[in-house]
Amino acid sequence: MFAYPLNALNPEDEKVRIRMWLVAAFGLALLEHAPHLSAQAPGQIAYIAKCASCHGMTGMADTQAGKTTNAQPFNGSTVAAMSDATLLGIIKNGSGKMPAYNGKISEDEASKLIQYIHQLQTAK
Ligand code: HEC
Repeated sequence: MFAYPLNALNPEDEKVRIRMWLVAAFGLALLEHAPHLSAQAPGQIAYIAKCASCHGMTGMADTQAGKTTNAQPFNGSTVAAMSDATLLGIIKNGSGKMPAYNGKISEDEASKLIQYIHQLQTAK
């Protein structure tokens, strides 16, 4: 005899199936985002973790802390005129209300942050 899949009519199983679909769909959504994660600009994670609170996600210094400490937007003429050496000096030694990161981040991380600042400067 041919076995009718009675359990397909069981509402409990239907729920299980829906849940499995949701898990699968969520997994696919994650995979979909994976290329973005791996293509993330070097320095971006450190920037978001350490700098964005004052300088803003896009470097516009449009956060409350950025405004009260008078940080400049990265794409403004003041910062655009700064050389990489100047930027590195500010990151390492601090300036005004900007904290010094010397010893807190590596040389490599600092140069990636500078690259990321340039990326924010040219982002439209
Ligand atoms: C507590 C707030 C704060 C944090 C966190 C912070 N900064 Fe700043 N940053 C400032 C302020 C304020 C200035 C302006 C300094 C001045 O007036 O001389 C500044 C200045 C700068 C400048 C020079 C351009 C400007 O706005 O004058 C650069 C580049 C910079 N910061 C990069 C960074 C990086 C990279 C990080 C993370 C590693 C970071 N900052 C974290 C507050 C902050």
